[in-house]
Amino acid sequence: MSALLIRNGTLVTDISTFAADLLVRDGKIAAIGPGLQAPDAEAVDASGKLILPGGVDPHVHLDLPMFGTVSSDDHYTGTKAAAFGGTTTIIDFVSFDFPTLRESVDKWLVKAEKAAVDYSAHMNLTRFDEQIAAEIPSLREMGITTLKVFTAYNGRLRLPDGDIFRALRIARDTGMLVMAHCENGDVIEILVTDALNTGHWQPEWHAKTRPVWGAVESALRAFALAATADAPLYLVHMNAAGEVDMLKYARERGVKVMGETCPQYLFFTEDDLRRPDGAKWVCSPPVRTKADNSRLWEGLADGTIQTIGTDHCPFFYDGTKPILYEGKPIAIPGKELGKDDFTKIPNGLPGVQDRLPVLWTAGVRSGKMTAEQFVALTSTNPAKIFGLYPRKGALLPGSDADIVIWDPNKKVKYGVALSHQRTDYNLYEGWELTGYPEKVFLRGKLIVDGERWLGKAGMGEFLPRQPGAPVL
Ligand code: URP
Ligand code: ZN
Ligand code: ZN
Repeated sequence: MSALLIRNGTLVTDISTFAADLLVRDGKIAAIGPGLQAPDAEAVDASGKLILPGGVDPHVHLDLPMFGTVSSDDHYTGTKAAAFGGTTTIIDFVSFDFPTLRESVDKWLVKAEKAAVDYSAHMNLTRFDEQIAAEIPSLREMGITTLKVFTAYNGRLRLPDGDIFRALRIARDTGMLVMAHCENGDVIEILVTDALNTGHWQPEWHAKTRPVWGAVESALRAFALAATADAPLYLVHMNAAGEVDMLKYARERGVKVMGETCPQYLFFTEDDLRRPDGAKWVCSPPVRTKADNSRLWEGLADGTIQTIGTDHCPFFYDGTKPILYEGKPIAIPGKELGKDDFTKIPNGLPGVQDRLPVLWTAGVRSGKMTAEQFVALTSTNPAKIFGLYPRKGALLPGSDADIVIWDPNKKVKYGVALSHQRTDYNLYEGWELTGYPEKVFLRGKLIVDGERWLGKAGMGEFLPRQPGAPVL
């Protein structure tokens, strides 16, 4: 494989920013330093540009069946969109839809083969018995070291607390990590029934029936289970100020807990659900209030929260009207399924491409986080927590050459026209962004060059992950 020399750029890592050249050989970073010489290498001049490690999105749902439809990005379109946004590694979820964990993983592996960036998956642990318990350690041998549990979605995905506790003990003994979706499933069931019985069908009732106290108490409950099991735990898609408080409380007491938030919880509120097109914002847990947005930003700034994923789980706003994707018309039933009943709106939002550009402008440029924090939260920390570091999330000799040449001065009016997410809307429509990926390399191969797509379905590699990853 040919060599690549990126010259005159400014490297940004999770801990520092410095001017250097970067040499790539055989898909790996070979050297970093001033004035590198490599006459055989293709040279790229990155003067005035930043060099970032490719983003690692620890939370996406591709080709996920839900409410009689399916999330509208598959493993090709979702990873292509990720690449356009500067993300070169994604971690998806395996639904536990087959009798054994192994069969569920095998089916997922077939679907995921068309990924255009590197990928792994978490296992949704949505059933539990002695046989399943005995099978969990074999996931580790398959390179899948994480289990997602739910305290909500009664009768579908939820596990009782005792089973979560058992899973935590297995995870502790095998070096695996439990991730928790925290809402109060019992309360949600009652409030949803009440709402429908009293004629409340509008999207805002999605949030009203999933109250914030349920998120806060079940987050603390999950931390308490982790503390008692002496196991690490990662709280996904943090959405509430109280969750930040609970995470801080537990971490201050030495409990091995970490947290992730997502851009939608930093920018949007229940007011968005009250818009005429409010269904676009329906996700679970729901978007909440301005005070929650602010506390989540604080949690990121002070290190209480470790990562920003996306929970990318897109649906069409109007899946009856085709869009053109790669020149072909495509329509997938989406949010219109719930036009008369909020419980039928597929839950989830697009975001895998939006994450880095939106956070650069709203986070780094606005002074809410440093460029180093941006890299830590969106690349290095997820790589570390999920057993991919230093192969991913790093600009170090020996790391995969997943590199983003970032133009900090490029201005775009963002929205669906710039997005490769396979849906008909974008949450950040019309946002003026400054700072955007210019070139994206996956293991040394140029896959995005401005608006040109040079990647291919199937270019992505499955990433077996290491157990025993650190608690940050
Ligand atoms: O609304 C969402 N987030 N859908 C995806 C499933 C989940 O719980 O993360
Ligand atoms: Zn979830
Ligand atoms: Zn999710």
